[in-house]
Amino acid sequence: MNSEQLRELLGSLTLEEKVGQLVQFNAGQFIENSLGITGPDGELLPAEDLNRVMGSVLTFENAAQAKALQDQHMAADPKKIPLLLMLDVIHGLRTTYPIPLAMGCGFDDALTAECADMARKESSACGVHVTFNPMVDTARDARWGRILETYSEEPLINGRMGAAIVKVTQGEDLSDPENVACCVKHYAAYGAPEAGRDYNSVEISERMLRETYLPAYKACLDAGARLIMPSFNSLNGIPSVANKWLMNRVLRKEWGFDGVAISDYAAVNELVVHGVADGPEDAVRLAMEAGCDIDMVDNFYYRYLADLVRKGIVPEEMLDTAVMRVLALKNELGLFENPYHGADEEKEKAVYLCDTHREIARRAAEETAVLLKNEGILPLKKNLKHVALIGPFAEDIHLNGFWSRPGAEKDTVTIPEGIRNLMPDLELIIEKGCGAEIGDTDRSGIAAAVQAAASAEAVILVLGEPENYSGEGRSRAELTMPGVQQELAEQVIRANPNTVAVLFNGRPLVLTELEKIAPAMLEMWYPGTEAGNALARLLWGEANPCGKLSAGLPRTTGQYPMPYNRMNTGRPKPEPDTQAFPFTSCYLDTPNLPLYSFGFGLSYTDFVYESLELDRTVITPEEQLQVTVTLRNAGERVGKETVQLYLRDKVASVVRPVQQLIDYRKVSLAPGERTQVTFTVTEKQLRFWDFDCQYGSEPGTFELSTGYADHLILTKTFELK
Ligand code: GLC
Repeated sequence: MNSEQLRELLGSLTLEEKVGQLVQFNAGQFIENSLGITGPDGELLPAEDLNRVMGSVLTFENAAQAKALQDQHMAADPKKIPLLLMLDVIHGLRTTYPIPLAMGCGFDDALTAECADMARKESSACGVHVTFNPMVDTARDARWGRILETYSEEPLINGRMGAAIVKVTQGEDLSDPENVACCVKHYAAYGAPEAGRDYNSVEISERMLRETYLPAYKACLDAGARLIMPSFNSLNGIPSVANKWLMNRVLRKEWGFDGVAISDYAAVNELVVHGVADGPEDAVRLAMEAGCDIDMVDNFYYRYLADLVRKGIVPEEMLDTAVMRVLALKNELGLFENPYHGADEEKEKAVYLCDTHREIARRAAEETAVLLKNEGILPLKKNLKHVALIGPFAEDIHLNGFWSRPGAEKDTVTIPEGIRNLMPDLELIIEKGCGAEIGDTDRSGIAAAVQAAASAEAVILVLGEPENYSGEGRSRAELTMPGVQQELAEQVIRANPNTVAVLFNGRPLVLTELEKIAPAMLEMWYPGTEAGNALARLLWGEANPCGKLSAGLPRTTGQYPMPYNRMNTGRPKPEPDTQAFPFTSCYLDTPNLPLYSFGFGLSYTDFVYESLELDRTVITPEEQLQVTVTLRNAGERVGKETVQLYLRDKVASVVRPVQQLIDYRKVSLAPGERTQVTFTVTEKQLRFWDFDCQYGSEPGTFELSTGYADHLILTKTFELK
């Protein structure tokens, strides 16, 4: 349709039909009870009316359902406006790849895009028109369970990976049935709740918002994301979905976003609960005035918006603007010509879990694992005959992580399956040893585990936190391994020091006590469908670990918030970090630095950073600086290394971080091979938001370093004139 035809269509709609375009319900309410909607939504209108006017649904399961929903709706809607079908596809639809926080450890935008492309193919075949992805809420506090959904504590990585996902998911033309529209979320600063508790209030200066929390959303919108989702949290006193500064001033005016804003789940309703709306009509007015176009799974727009327009409380042109955004999106997706979009049962069968997708998922699991410690244990020898596999995750299928699609766990390659695929002749002795639930004090399985460890040549000890301990609504106030896992580890490692601890967790955990006793530690996060195959290949050296931490791992929960790009303060703690220095910025009871810093990760080979050179030491704002890092693989194996470039602005009108990642590049080197990694640094990368929230750079002295956070090396200085 052209814009004239769209305007005619809008003009032909009744008030109820216009409102219907802004209403979204769960598809399940239409499929399970065939339109017999129950509960509070059921009081709304007879289901037939809802189905006649509703504009979109979310959370359906497959192409057949997608087509049935569309058929059902189109038969009832006299104006024949197709439904938008939306779904959370965060890290894979049927072939699950590692959680986003793990993908951030890959430091490989192309790999993240490759995984997103795989998810696009499976999503489009399933009939998805819009995915609620990417989530790019920068988070610095792992008590917040949704840290697993974002890519890094560093907004640069969130922005780059989010933009890469948007580009590959939406493609060049959304009317191509294989492309899917992206909804970036959760706008804004949902990852910075007070006390790390999900849904809690967020109080942040405008300067910090613009410096740290807004850039990743903007990068995704600049990449073309067609939708955005305001977040549950209040931001500086006003919930995002009613926050005019955020939604009108920044999003629509400053950034020029003209796509669809869709509330989070019942967030319009929650304006009353927050206490900023004096009843449902007030909530609807506030959300509409802030430019929230679609009301997700809520009956407030549905029940009250038409009357508010009739009373003149909500101007009809405001309603028309919102409806036009939704119609324009449906039109761009080509739904008026092809309401099914990409839904295709045959294609589902062809792409779900196909070999190509399994290979991508396995490679991603291998490349995002982080080798934290290795005192000669890994890789395991190929001639081992008896290995003990011990721990609560030893035979678990739940290794996908939150937001993996329901049922995907039945496809997981478990750890024993993966090991047997690689080492069919190995005798594997499996003992769970203990549980992983909070408060689980059952030690009855430890003795058998210790016996299995003692009789084995090597031990694989799989620990962490259960899959449903991170994700939405999963905040924790203490981040040690739940239950008696540490006790299990102590007794098993005492029985057989030839033990590698493998971690499955969706957030940084406090591993301080484990690190004291484990000779080797491999962080797998939640690796997805190919978990067992990837782990086996990593353990026996078929794959060489190359992940780098996308968020630091704390020594203790009390260190949070713990941004790597911290400020120096007026009383920085002197070395050594292991000692307290009263009257400096330190703790009496723990070092300042993380147990493992942002950007850290080991390999089975050794990389030597030989030099960092600048092609000049002074630049004007118009000039560029070439930075060359020379790296050598001094070990015996092929390996990948992420070369990281850190900046420090020595003096500025506001305090600046002691280290700020401004670029990264992953390279593969053969044994003995040397390479030069070149970065271009421009004045743009030196910019920041000053006290008056003006964005720009300031002349002065800057340092450039490589290495990883808290362990910067080869530092060189340059001037910006
Ligand atoms: C949830 C989440 C959001 C998700 C939406 C739809 O509550 O906050 O990330 O996209 O509802 O499932």
